[in-house]
Amino acid sequence: MSKNQKKNIQTIINHLKTQGFVYQNSEIYGGVINTWDYGPLACNIMSQIKKYWIRDFITREKNFQIDSKIIMNPNVWKASGHVDNFSDFLIENKVNQKRYRADHIVKDLFPEVNVEKSTLSELEKIIKEKVKEYDGSKTNWGEIRPFNLMFKTQMGAIDTQASHTFLRPETAQGIFVNFKNVARTTRAKLPFGIGQIGKSFRNEITPRDFIFRTREFEQMELEFFCLEKESDKFYKYWIKKCADFVKFLGLKKENIRIRPHEKEELSHYSKGTSDIEYLFPFGWGELLGIANRGNYDLTQHSKFSNTELDYLLEDGSKVIPYCIEPSIGLDRLLLALLIDAYNEEEIAKDDIRIVLKLDFNISPYQVAVFPLMKKLNKEALEIYDSLLQTTDLRLIYDETGSIGKRYRRQDAIGTKFAITVDFETLENKTVTVRERDSMEQKRIPINDLKTYFENFRK
Ligand code: GAP
Repeated sequence: MSKNQKKNIQTIINHLKTQGFVYQNSEIYGGVINTWDYGPLACNIMSQIKKYWIRDFITREKNFQIDSKIIMNPNVWKASGHVDNFSDFLIENKVNQKRYRADHIVKDLFPEVNVEKSTLSELEKIIKEKVKEYDGSKTNWGEIRPFNLMFKTQMGAIDTQASHTFLRPETAQGIFVNFKNVARTTRAKLPFGIGQIGKSFRNEITPRDFIFRTREFEQMELEFFCLEKESDKFYKYWIKKCADFVKFLGLKKENIRIRPHEKEELSHYSKGTSDIEYLFPFGWGELLGIANRGNYDLTQHSKFSNTELDYLLEDGSKVIPYCIEPSIGLDRLLLALLIDAYNEEEIAKDDIRIVLKLDFNISPYQVAVFPLMKKLNKEALEIYDSLLQTTDLRLIYDETGSIGKRYRRQDAIGTKFAITVDFETLENKTVTVRERDSMEQKRIPINDLKTYFENFRK
């Protein structure tokens, strides 16, 4: 069993709740099942992930970023295929009137069955013949039926068929419908990409595994447009780029793998898809996906909107470009990074240190500043304020409790360094800097602190 599979997800969730990474959504009203709000520490990490995504997927690649709306014209979802095809398959247990995802039941109870390759009637047969008790209840199974995952909503005050629309289930479609606008206004030449970061919504039947599968989540998606003959090259390019990106953020190599989809699994639009999977404590799970969507989306939107969504090549001919899509779920990536970083270390008998070994560049706070004793707070606050004003380090100040307790508090939230101001500081203008993982301490002149920390930036 790998180190990750030995980690207990419930222990990690409790830790993240206690420390202020996540809160139960609407907690004072009893909460909403499997729905989490992010606290200050998680927000700090997510801001960094987004910053690096913009750097690595947009800026350094000379791609373009947009910000389209969550609520769009409902015809978008007819054209994209979501109205007809974006469904999970449910089966009802008539004894307790609960509905379940058929594939989840079979996956959980019969791991030897390849759910992706099974037909609906095969799944139905297995469940009806073999599952006599489920979820604490006797069973009497109905038929398997599709359930569309889009959240329905209504625009404007008058409730008519025409006012009905959906919350977007992916950010991608906002990019396809703006393809012509971006191409025209940027005068971009193929190949080029358009990306966006934003919330997506899916009425998941069984949100589960903490923030792995939720009904509201954030995506970072790039639609990279190119010629068909180059699409395979770019498909491979973006798979590698995504793998490098998650490793750069700190995921350990041994906990990620690339899994190409089998033919039967491909989405209705896809000419090829690969997932990057992460070894969660509950097993390998999809972290993000890279798809070759062909020219399905632009073709569909051309048809449904009666607008040419083609691209004029230099020789005067027109093409509908192919599209490679690296699509990353921010919440899932955050979960993987936190699990990867979580460690319990036995420092001495009956002394366990909980430490989040997050990379310096994404940790919620990078540097903590402490006075050894409260009476040294003036000198410590001066260093804290001066670093706040002259660097963009994420800093935290703490003067309460013993110095040992303060170190542990910062270890538990992943702060990489701690500066301690002591009596020697008054004599020679040096401080101790303690590194989180090794717990080693060095004496560093105050004037060198800025350069010292800048060397850890990537
Ligand atoms: N535009 C393509 C698309 O949306 P997807 O595989 O359905 O593809 C992409 O979603 C990524 O979004 C997933 O790999 C995952 O990281 C994230 N994601 C999808 N559904 C999610 C959910 N219910 N909760 C959290 N993240 C989700």
